[in-house]
Amino acid sequence: MKISVIIPTYNERENLPEIVERLSRALQGYEYEIVVVDDDSPDRTWELAQKLGEKYPIKVIRRTKERGLSSAVIRGFQEASGDIFVVMDADLQHPPEKVPELIEAIKNGADIAIASRYVPGGAVKNWYWYRRLISKGAIMIGRVALPKIRNVRDPVSGFFALRREVVEGVELNPVGFKILMEILVKGRYNKVQEVPFTFGLRKAGESKLGSRTIINYLRHLYRLMKWEGEIDRLLKFSLVGLSGIIVNEGFLWAFVRFLGWDKVLSNILATELAILNNFTWNDLWTFRDLKRKPILQRLASFHLAALSGAIVQWAVYVALLAVGVHYLLANLVGIAISFIVRFAVNRHVTWG
Ligand code: GDD
Ligand code: MN
Repeated sequence: MKISVIIPTYNERENLPEIVERLSRALQGYEYEIVVVDDDSPDRTWELAQKLGEKYPIKVIRRTKERGLSSAVIRGFQEASGDIFVVMDADLQHPPEKVPELIEAIKNGADIAIASRYVPGGAVKNWYWYRRLISKGAIMIGRVALPKIRNVRDPVSGFFALRREVVEGVELNPVGFKILMEILVKGRYNKVQEVPFTFGLRKAGESKLGSRTIINYLRHLYRLMKWEGEIDRLLKFSLVGLSGIIVNEGFLWAFVRFLGWDKVLSNILATELAILNNFTWNDLWTFRDLKRKPILQRLASFHLAALSGAIVQWAVYVALLAVGVHYLLANLVGIAISFIVRFAVNRHVTWG
């Protein structure tokens, strides 16, 4: 099986000789090529890559009209001739010595092998705690938003290997720069394996992925959620929630007004009827394609989601009041967070 190592570069002249040298040593005994996709770097990385090509099996793509990490990787897939693709950065934050482990994981049956910072044994060098927190928080949001990646610990790693078939003929959107996430959502695969590694320090030069990273990531997530139909689900879930308010108010009014029942008891009963209403519509409509559990289990789980939502709503309200937030705003934030919690629990547990 031939290996294609795809390395996107932009101003990586200082790092290129070392990564190529270490890769060639790590890949001794394998049939391989290195595909350098350079976006016409001002430091002429492409030129150096061509020169290194006299000694090593390197294919150099010099793009003059396009820019971007993801589109460079996608171009690399198109140009690669191997059976297994490896994607890695040029700056030596990804140790070339890990590549054989990724390849072996694929040979042993994985379709995608991810060099992962967040499985036991993995690590990140020299990140402040807040950098780590942002990274982990972003990943957590992604795993909740996209059920397909919920079991992947490091879905934004830039270091991974895959079988050619996973991406061949698959239309990948080059806009978001977390190309692995794009592949995990759109690719054709069964088994994903994560191999721990230490995300090292950049050897030379500087990172190109700067300030707009978080916004870009969230936009990418939104696009993938839309592609997956999760945004539609969210909308349906909201509409069902609105119908629940009407049911709740209607019955409460009817019980008190026409039956003369106690207002507290009536409220409990009306709330339960609204929960049943919401469950029914969500079961028949929002999540109709996802009935994997028996109905009684779904019903119980839906109640649990409603209860945890209520508790979260109350807790957020009390906490925000305590720090001096206006009570109406505090309530609104509580409602919004409760909504997210209820949707997430139902998406992943009730209909998970
Ligand atoms: N062709 C091309 N075009 N290459 C690019 C571009 C571009 O526009 N931007 C960056 N690269 C190349 C760099 O030259 C480097 O080889 C690699 O892509 C990664 O770029 P860095 O700038 O070093 O990224 P980073 O270290 O901030 O982020 C890395 O780690 C993240 C995880 O924390 C990347 O691997 C990300 O994909 C990953 O999510
Ligand atoms: Mn880097």
